[in-house]
Amino acid sequence: MFRYSALPLLGLATAQFTVFYDMLRFQCNQLVIDRIDPLVNPGLSPSPHLHQIVGGNSFQPDMTPQSGHDLVNNSTCTSCTFVEDLSNYWTAVLYFRARNGSFHRVPQFPSEGLRGHGGITVYYIPPYDGKSTVTAFKPGFRMLAGDAAVDFEDKRVQKLCHRCMPKTGEMSHVNCGAPDSKALPKGPCEGGIRSVITFPTCWDGKTLDSPDHKSHVSYVANGSFDSNGKCPASHPVALPQVMLEVMWDTRPFNDPELWPEDGSQPFVWSTGDKTGYTQHGDYVFGWKGDSLQRAMDARCTGAICRELKLQSSEEAMRCTKAPVVKEQVDGWLDYIPGMEHLKF
Ligand SMILES: *[C@@H]1O[C@H](CO)[C@@H](O)[C@H](O)[C@H]1NC(C)=O
Ligand SMILES: *[C@@H]1O[C@H](CO)[C@@H](O)[C@H](O)[C@H]1NC(C)=O
Ligand SMILES: *[C@@H]1O[C@H](CO)[C@@H](O)[C@H](O)[C@H]1NC(C)=O
Ligand SMILES: *[C@@H]1O[C@H](CO)[C@@H](O)[C@H](O)[C@H]1NC(C)=O
Repeated sequence: MFRYSALPLLGLATAQFTVFYDMLRFQCNQLVIDRIDPLVNPGLSPSPHLHQIVGGNSFQPDMTPQSGHDLVNNSTCTSCTFVEDLSNYWTAVLYFRARNGSFHRVPQFPSEGLRGHGGITVYYIPPYDGKSTVTAFKPGFRMLAGDAAVDFEDKRVQKLCHRCMPKTGEMSHVNCGAPDSKALPKGPCEGGIRSVITFPTCWDGKTLDSPDHKSHVSYVANGSFDSNGKCPASHPVALPQVMLEVMWDTRPFNDPELWPEDGSQPFVWSTGDKTGYTQHGDYVFGWKGDSLQRAMDARCTGAICRELKLQSSEEAMRCTKAPVVKEQVDGWLDYIPGMEHLKF
């Protein structure tokens, strides 16, 4: 039986093979790799660092409400499984740095049980109690998890981590618990590196976005798993927990001969960071009408949902767009795009 590859904190080790938890889990294929960031740097092209983007094909440098841009009306397709989901999700891109100082983009592969081209596995998770309701995001809602500007272990970096994947299976269903780390794994990983970005689940109920794209939302007061924790009084509205999972295929770079002579790990985020702490995820809500609310209320599971319309993997993979910033991102590069100034 198919099982989820990233159940966040559950501790139900014996139940994992037979129980389907209520959560949407679906593939979003690569839409484009581009150096724009309509959330943090609206209108700026190129933006400071490179991203991989999935979702609706209306993704563009300026997606501010004032621009008249609307994800639902302006998209003609989505690279995600459900045709109603014209949202955009994006993360940094991982590079490998060779001994000679050249960089190569690390390819991605779909998570267990899914088909697609690169991209991101997206989760929308309602509370685990099986009955509490969540309030779906409103048109115009957007948020950021993580911080591209931190380069040290910082309290602001929550629920973002990396797992050094074994050849098969996944060791633990507890995301961001042992053996996961905020830092990039120190040694070669037989099954690649999985990065997980979990967004806050509590909303102030009014603000669609805030200047830092974070303070209108909050993680639960008490750590552990968001949907079972209590939202603070300042952010009382419980949201679906959005979680992004990216599988980085580091396997072609596992030869010890390729790693630095001092044994340090050779992977670098497109932010120019090799610690791992600057991993981040951006979310701009763009579900059609009340489709997400209906899917959450119906407790849809996996990529099966009567409330939503599925498209085939082939159709989803066909939804791509040309990058706005024309620059080389693949092959052996002298520097990571936008990081010419960085010395490693
Ligand atoms: C999207 O299109 C619909 C139907 O034409 C319209 O009613 C709605 O106002 C549009 N939304 C935005 C944000 O432009
Ligand atoms: C987006 O759609 C609206 C109508 O819904 C239209 O007025 C606007 O020009 C479109 N914007 C883009 C960038 O296509
Ligand atoms: C740097 O090293 C990589 C991996 O060994 C190799 O493929 C590439 O051609 C080298 N680049 C240069 C400029 O020598
Ligand atoms: C957090 O946990 C503490 C200790 O278990 C408890 O006293 C407190 O009420 C909890 N806070 C919330 C918001 O649930």
